[in-house]
Amino acid sequence: MGVLASGRGSNLRAIVEAIDQGRLNAQVRVVVSNKAQAGALDFARQRGVPAIFLSPEEYPSPETFDQKLLQVFEAHGVDFVALAGYLKLISPAMIARYRNRIVNIHPALLPSFGGKGMYGLRVHEAVLDYGCKVTGVTVHIVDEQYDHGPVVLQRCVEVRDDDTPETLAERVLRIEHQIYAEALQLFAEGRVKVVGRRVFIENRR
Ligand code: GRF
Repeated sequence: MGVLASGRGSNLRAIVEAIDQGRLNAQVRVVVSNKAQAGALDFARQRGVPAIFLSPEEYPSPETFDQKLLQVFEAHGVDFVALAGYLKLISPAMIARYRNRIVNIHPALLPSFGGKGMYGLRVHEAVLDYGCKVTGVTVHIVDEQYDHGPVVLQRCVEVRDDDTPETLAERVLRIEHQIYAEALQLFAEGRVKVVGRRVFIENRR
């Protein structure tokens, strides 16, 4: 797979650990970021995984950026894409090339608290401001809109009375690190079937 990341890269790390521990049958062939300073790129370099920064200044439109990205993916034999804290919208050409083979992880229960601008602590602030009693994690297939494609897996996280956005983010992140690898393994086993907006997991236990 190829991993796209814009930030710290803890989900990338969780994916690589799951591979090392035999819980995920996959290879990370390349990590690409639109941010030169992304922690995800540093982590990839430390682990000897090709790490590539694509400059949004050099490729200013989503089309030219993703055209370059497609070349990178093809050069590295990527047939599946995981977004791990990637903040750019994926172009229609990329979606068409990897139809139902691009996934994202979001730190809330979609369709609540998602969409453009809903990332980082803002998500958890919004959950607390609304007064929700549960939040969670969503792994979904990526389509042309932010945080919108069919849901693959979701897991709940309880909101506690004394939560701050930071404490909630931390508990949600721990669950992210578990379920992203689980979801990716379902794809690796060929057990994910997408029918319209519904995703069925074959032989679900
Ligand atoms: C995670 O909360 C993920 O759900 C969201 O962006 C954050 C990325 O964190 N899409 P990290 O870079 O993987 O640590």
